[in-house]
Amino acid sequence: MNDYSSYLSPMGRRLHESAIRRMGTVLARQTDVVSFAPGYPDSGSFPWEELREITQRLLSGTDHEVLQYGPTGGYTPLVESIVPILDARGITVARDEVLVTTGSQQGLDLIARLFVTPGDVVLVELPAYTGAIAAFGNAQAQLVGVRQESDGISLEDLDEVCERHRAAGRRVNLLYLVPNFQNPTGLLLSLEKRRQLLEWAERRDMLIVEDDPYGSLYFDDVTRVEETRSIRADDKSGRVIYLSSFSKTLVPGLRVGWVVAPSTLIDRLETAKQSVDLMSGSLDQRVVYEAIRGGAIERLAPRLRELYRRKRDVMETALRAEVGNLLSWTQPRGGFFLWARLPDRHDDMGLLAQALEERLVFVVGSAFFVDGTGHDRIRLSFSAPTPERIQEGARRLAAALRHPVASEHSSR
Ligand SMILES: Cc1ncc(COP(=O)(O)O)c(C=O)c1O
Repeated sequence: MNDYSSYLSPMGRRLHESAIRRMGTVLARQTDVVSFAPGYPDSGSFPWEELREITQRLLSGTDHEVLQYGPTGGYTPLVESIVPILDARGITVARDEVLVTTGSQQGLDLIARLFVTPGDVVLVELPAYTGAIAAFGNAQAQLVGVRQESDGISLEDLDEVCERHRAAGRRVNLLYLVPNFQNPTGLLLSLEKRRQLLEWAERRDMLIVEDDPYGSLYFDDVTRVEETRSIRADDKSGRVIYLSSFSKTLVPGLRVGWVVAPSTLIDRLETAKQSVDLMSGSLDQRVVYEAIRGGAIERLAPRLRELYRRKRDVMETALRAEVGNLLSWTQPRGGFFLWARLPDRHDDMGLLAQALEERLVFVVGSAFFVDGTGHDRIRLSFSAPTPERIQEGARRLAAALRHPVASEHSSR
């Protein structure tokens, strides 16, 4: 038997591999590929020595709880140490307002399970993080995109889109966005818009899902903490559900993230989590906790900012040298991504096909657009490759851009 389609649920039928995952498969099959595709941290930045020492200590066998089932809500000392991390971001919470999740990706999935009735409209940015598109899409939301401006989501369009769908009888309760160094654009939402969004959510009776994995990875002194202040920090009425993660500030492989929400919602998210994984890994959570306790996150943060700022500079310099003004972009002031606009005669799919010939991968812009547009963009991650590979990738991109254009979207 090989056709199971009649057995599948509507969600099962909808499940398709993401464009980014597909890039990973392409990579696995080829050698000497330069990858600007996945938003992986630089594995050279991982505190290997420290993590080895912590893990050895934890696995010495003196504490049997280390490999035992634990509370669904998270390892209590870890939850307690997330509270001051949030405090430093201006977010004051009690312990029962935090849920540890298996990466913030799981937080997104749990939120979608909790809030989305099939057919609901969920508002996202144009473009939006593919993992959120997948999580809300799997819950059978209709994702509706809202245009971005240079300082983040357009508030006029947001209100218009929200009210238009409500007037058409649709349920519209959630707005998902990444205010700090957004994946994929690298954009920073202005402070004024953050303030206005809270007023808007109150006025329109909306919930905001604020996803913040990159906030502490700012590159210039001007940005600093003030400009990355979370929307949740000024939320007085419980309109914002906040997610963050240790994936970019420590390591992603331990899969430890968290959700902040009012305790009544945390209870429900926790119950939903029980049927997903019972609990996030005990060892993973303890390793992260011990790393926090030993000061690893604080020690790493300035180094990571410096590392990724340097890589951003290498990518910008290499692109300017190799592709000249064929590509244009706004300089990312933090995070992992450079979001490039293609010249008129190119489109993302056609260029990717040419890039693969040159053994280069990136993510096509259209993967991030829920309205089927975005073919004039590509996302280039500078976080994982070495400076030499970034330079080599820029050369390959220049070669791909020189190829003649032939694609179904090239008439854009
Ligand atoms: C905006 C955004 N949200 C969530 C995630 C998922 O992160 P985690 O590793 O914590 O699941 C990512 C990962 O790249 C991301 O870019």
